[in-house]
Amino acid sequence: MTDAAHGSDERPVEDRHEIDPVAPETFTSAHEAYQELRGSCPVAHSQTYGGFWALLRYDDVVGVLRDIDTYTTSVQNVVPKFAFTGRRPPLHFDPPEHGAYRRIINRFFTAEKMAALEPEVRRFAADLLQPLIDRGDGDISVEYAQKFPAHVFARFFNLPIELSELIKQVSAEYVAAIQIVADEDVKRLSRRLYDIAEEVIAQRRENPMDASEDLTSALIAGEYEGEPLPADMVLGCVRQLLVTGMVAPSVFIGNMFVHLSRDQQLQAQLRADPSLIPAAVEEFLRLYTPYRGMARTPRRDVTIRGQQIGKDEPIALVYTSANRDEAVFPDGENFILHRENISKHIAFGAGVHSCPGAPLARMMITHTLEEALSRTSHFEVNGDIEMAHWAEWGTNSVPLQLAPA
Ligand code: HEM
Repeated sequence: MTDAAHGSDERPVEDRHEIDPVAPETFTSAHEAYQELRGSCPVAHSQTYGGFWALLRYDDVVGVLRDIDTYTTSVQNVVPKFAFTGRRPPLHFDPPEHGAYRRIINRFFTAEKMAALEPEVRRFAADLLQPLIDRGDGDISVEYAQKFPAHVFARFFNLPIELSELIKQVSAEYVAAIQIVADEDVKRLSRRLYDIAEEVIAQRRENPMDASEDLTSALIAGEYEGEPLPADMVLGCVRQLLVTGMVAPSVFIGNMFVHLSRDQQLQAQLRADPSLIPAAVEEFLRLYTPYRGMARTPRRDVTIRGQQIGKDEPIALVYTSANRDEAVFPDGENFILHRENISKHIAFGAGVHSCPGAPLARMMITHTLEEALSRTSHFEVNGDIEMAHWAEWGTNSVPLQLAPA
């Protein structure tokens, strides 16, 4: 499949460290490094996190995603790995079991379900943005992007807002602990997230909800090959759903505000013609793809671009890099509205594990921009940007000055 003649490196694996997931980053540094690596070393290696491979090119990443016979998510699906935190469907399952969970989850992201959520998602966006606009400044990451998902999730999962905010807070601490490989904290926080998921399930068992209206209830009622889904896997699935979708929107949203601060002409164009916003969002998703540490593990020895990779050696799929690959996206480092092949971007992955939450994520991002642009006449960054860390790419802090419309 992804074998090719060049890119081979004869050095022993222990001497290879082309990609450094813990290096301090600026808004542009990781993309500069990935652009260089796509040319010089598209199959990179790092000694960090116990050692892992990293694929930088689009075709290599997609090749792995499509080859589910060779690559599994059941061993290691993210770099760094935390083996002790339990198995959580759907991500940690391969087909066919994977399908049992996805069929249930997918029913909650239909166009009809999204249309029902839409007015509230828009209202949450407006309500959370307005205080920053009234004040004339604020941190769009800290005060908005890190809060907004909790509100949307409370509505989506039929949870009290206090509980959803708690999940958001614990997830953020969990992600931060993973980044610095603080094993004991990761264990403790993961346990806490399991406890919360367990509590949500217990409440549903006590007070059942309509399984067509509530995802947790649908999983409790779910079956695979005529048997109920195992209780520990329902728990793992709820635990994954509650956390997964909270992380990416938080680090993604600030990137758009940085970009639009640096390109005031585009900011004015989108404000003047909001019908362009959905197309701009797709290009932002390509340009500022938030995941880079999602991984697969080969079930046998493989060769990718001449590089041998042993069975069971983790391979990070650097979506953040693949989406700027010039071989697929000409002038890939730059923003092009209405890019011809934008539908090829893999910000939401590809293949069986592609993101089920994409319609909700798109709605959250689009409404954020629509509300921010229509309620302001101008905004720009007025302080230091802070970056998130591997395995996410994006902003943790973006101070803005905003002028009301
Ligand atoms: C900007 C926002 C988001 C981005 C960029 C994103 C991206 C992704 C990507 C790249 C994957 C594939 C992982 C892999 O290949 O290993 C994925 C999977 C997943 N995402 Fe998202 N996601 C976002 C928001 C959400 C939301 C809002 C939800 C839920 C409400 C969600 C739920 C999931 C789940 C459950 C999976 C696992 C799917 C499976 O294994 O079949 N995501 N996401």
